[in-house]
Amino acid sequence: MNEMRAYFAREIPGINAFLAAEADKLDGLVRDVARHVLLSGGKRIRPMLTILFARAYGHSKDDQLGISCALEMLHTATLLHDDVLDQAETRRGQTSAHVAFGVTETILAGDILLALANKIGADYDIPRLNGLLARGIMATAEGEILELAHTARPTVDRQTYLDIIIGKTAKLIETACRCGAALASRDRTLEDQAGNFGLNLGIAFQLVDDALDYTISESEMGKPAGGDLREGKMTLPLILYLESLPEVEARELLAGLREKRLTEAEAGRIVAQVREKGLAEQTREAARGYIDAALRELDALPASPERVVLAQAAEYVLTRRK
Ligand code: IPE
Ligand code: IPE
Ligand code: MG
Ligand code: MG
Repeated sequence: MNEMRAYFAREIPGINAFLAAEADKLDGLVRDVARHVLLSGGKRIRPMLTILFARAYGHSKDDQLGISCALEMLHTATLLHDDVLDQAETRRGQTSAHVAFGVTETILAGDILLALANKIGADYDIPRLNGLLARGIMATAEGEILELAHTARPTVDRQTYLDIIIGKTAKLIETACRCGAALASRDRTLEDQAGNFGLNLGIAFQLVDDALDYTISESEMGKPAGGDLREGKMTLPLILYLESLPEVEARELLAGLREKRLTEAEAGRIVAQVREKGLAEQTREAARGYIDAALRELDALPASPERVVLAQAAEYVLTRRK
């Protein structure tokens, strides 16, 4: 993965500088919130995908930074709003924005980042970019809403889980890839290749994230282990666990989740059993199929340093430990 690491190390300072400059231009009420979250690290996967696909399709004009950072702003806005929805107290190892700055300021900062990302996209005067951003935002919001509804009435239903992770995560990653392709070319076939890569990568990304939620410690993840369970989220490790239980016990646990009466001790016990039964690893194995599908899309791309990095990024998504 050396090519990927070197490529990311070369590009990320420019991304960070662009984001810092845009945050500094914001009104004081939201500037500190935006700076807090935009500059708190983050793997920068989405803007990197935009840059990589633009160049993989031969884009030579050096104007991809704005649209790639627009994708990171959209992602950041969803994190701000998501931590309010999930009542999450930490993000990227730091106090989350709504705790540090207040809910109103955080919602507004998320809104302004959504608006700013659209403005930056519109300044390219490529109508397709506007359509892609709009659809990416819509799908993300729909995914979050679907998850909220499902958490209120949890069922052991893999299709709903898949719909949720496609909506809340994979579609924005797909959008990042499509935007890179759309900047480089008007050819919709090329854009679809990039989009299919991103969609499959995004599904795998969330599957691995959901596996990590059960296996990793707070110091490594930047958020508490078993957080999804405590938030009552029906992710694949928990679905597999419920499927492994006798029916009466599964029904009792579902009711406990729905009524939010799981004790800390019970949650700890379930997290331990998910680990013991290897269900987090099984979730990672499910991600493998999507990574393979993503890699197949790359076959059609011309050979380039970017294609090598994209393939390594796909492997990284699968094997990452944080
Ligand atoms: C976190 O995304 C939210 C999910 C979709 C799981 P990332 O894992 O890309 O977050 P950062 O930007 O690197 O913090
Ligand atoms: C992350 O979703 C936010 C979006 C993808 C919109 P989650 O709630 O599942 O992820 P974390 O655990 O907060 O990063
Ligand atoms: Mg969350
Ligand atoms: Mg959430």
